Amino acid sequence: MAIRRSNLRRLSAVNERQVNTMRNFDEETITEAVLERVGQARDPRMKQISEALVRHLHGFIREVRPSQAEWEQGIRFLTGTGHMCDDKRQEFILLSDVLGVSMLVDAINHGAAAGATESTVLGPFYVEAAPEKALGANISDGIDGEPLIVTGSVSSLDGKAIAGATIDVWHSDGDGYYDVQQLEETGGLTMRARFRSDANGKFYFWTIRPAAYPIPHDGPVGKMLDAQGRHPWRPAHVHFMISASGYQQLVTHIFADGDQYLDSDVVFGVKDSLIRMFAARPAGVAPDGRILDAPFHHLNYDFGLTPA
Ligand code: BEZ
Ligand code: FE
Repeated sequence: MAIRRSNLRRLSAVNERQVNTMRNFDEETITEAVLERVGQARDPRMKQISEALVRHLHGFIREVRPSQAEWEQGIRFLTGTGHMCDDKRQEFILLSDVLGVSMLVDAINHGAAAGATESTVLGPFYVEAAPEKALGANISDGIDGEPLIVTGSVSSLDGKAIAGATIDVWHSDGDGYYDVQQLEETGGLTMRARFRSDANGKFYFWTIRPAAYPIPHDGPVGKMLDAQGRHPWRPAHVHFMISASGYQQLVTHIFADGDQYLDSDVVFGVKDSLIRMFAARPAGVAPDGRILDAPFHHLNYDFGLTPA
């Protein structure tokens, strides 16, 4: 919202009075001066956030003592991060993810009550308009891969089945690519769908086993990971977003037990409670009664939702 000219003049008069009494700042006095200025914010939350930002930013600079060239490099990094963002790529969220900030915000906002499934990062590959499919559908649309049946249930903290819950799922293929990263090859959305839990809170669907994959690392965040001596990999997982009226929305994923990246997930998203076997099964009768003539995998997870 634009600030009216009269208000702007009043603000600058206040600032001028301060400049007359506050100038010649040096390393010792600059932080207090900025804190006093931003402390004039009318909104108490804005004041709190602005003051903390200044305190921590100045503390960081005091600790690091950057050369002028390093400071310029930092500005170039942030500028490059912004330039990498568009409606398909959000490099700032990726930066937040790999610095553990997304998981910290998640931890602050989603304490797990007993019986509630833990949450983890959303990630950049969620698509709102995933096709709604009937329970039992195969969502891999003919993409090559090892067959995987996913079964599970949705219930409240006291174990009561939640019927009609919306279950959004999405995952990578056996080479670690999402549909949206290869739309020309896949010809559209695949390995993602929206289901509704049945009257007993149960759901099941067929797909292909996902693989571990590197997060997009062809931009500033990838360069930073490299400079920090870090790999860009995430362990294999299936994403879930589960909503039901009267309950908090759950954003999480289930990780494949045994994956080599469980202890070094680049975005710090792994929790023990979210790891399950993607169990290998021989050809024969599958959990949904279908008879398979080839081996398959089975993942089961029973989700618990927290009341709103
Ligand atoms: C994902 O799991 O899809 C993801 C999460 C964070 C950053 C990149 C990818
Ligand atoms: Fe993912």
